[in-house]
Amino acid sequence: MSPSPDETPPLFDISGLHYRYAGAQADALADLDLKVHEGEFVAVVGANGSGKSTLARLLGGLEKPAAARHALACGHDLLVEDGRMAARRDVGVLFQNPENQLVAQCVEDDVAFGLENLAWPAADIGRRVDEMLARFGLEDLRRREPHMLSGGQKQRTALAGVIAVPRRVLVLDEPTAMLDPVGRDEVLRAVREMRDEGLAIVYITQEMDEAAGADRVVALERGTQAYAGDAGGLFADAALVRRLGLGLPAAGELALALAEQGRGLRDLPLTMDELLVALGYAT
Ligand SMILES: Nc1ncnc2c1ncn2[C@@H]1O[C@H](COP(=O)(O)OP(=O)(O)OP(=O)(O)O)[C@@H](O)[C@H]1O
Ligand SMILES: [Mg+2]
Repeated sequence: MSPSPDETPPLFDISGLHYRYAGAQADALADLDLKVHEGEFVAVVGANGSGKSTLARLLGGLEKPAAARHALACGHDLLVEDGRMAARRDVGVLFQNPENQLVAQCVEDDVAFGLENLAWPAADIGRRVDEMLARFGLEDLRRREPHMLSGGQKQRTALAGVIAVPRRVLVLDEPTAMLDPVGRDEVLRAVREMRDEGLAIVYITQEMDEAAGADRVVALERGTQAYAGDAGGLFADAALVRRLGLGLPAAGELALALAEQGRGLRDLPLTMDELLVALGYAT
């Protein structure tokens, strides 16, 4: 029998985390707690400037916390330089801005970059890179210089490079923000597959439909945690949703519009399937 999540150490175990940018008047993150277990999919939401990308960089060992009671990523102590170095290896981070991630001369070299750092044999790298290029529809662009790509193509290249390296945990910072509907579906499918493979994923998003599918949602407000729990609990609290500058998943918005027409539903649906069931069109 596989151990329950509570028996294995969390992949992220963060308590009382603070971070402040040099010269800033206030903390970008203050007294933040976060636990993410093996195989969990945790969405992080919050208004612009609430600290989501800062959190992503800290979780990946890319910034030094100002303070924390404890801050562990894959067992590595983020409060010390050696721990942050080890976290940079074990935690896959997709940055919000792919410009910060693309380093090589062409798309295929960029996707191969992490594997080359791990000294994989060339034939294995070739196979893995081909698989990633096919998964994200990048085959025709494999020789293209990254700075000659569109925003969405850059984002897909960066994600292919992050996913190419086998890991237990990923932090994805708004991975669908720049994508067209087809690209978005490709990325969501890849994320679903990784979730099915048992990877833990911290998924930063402004898309409430994407957050609605998470095991847990953490909402940030000016660097502090304003909510942590299931998506249903967050979206049912209309005052909190408004205060945090969030919206509802599309099905929830539709349900509210129906309620204004006098067709109020008992529970707020979070997905189209739940809405259809609530309206009696599906069982
Ligand atoms: N390099 C920096 N130097 C100083 N302040 C910064 C820097 N980067 C971010 N900040 C500030 O830190 C706070 C958190 O920023 P962060 O980028 O983490 O927010 P976010 O939630 O990711 O926002 P968005 O939704 O716009 O991506 C903001 O007040 C921002 O102005
Ligand atoms: Mg951000």
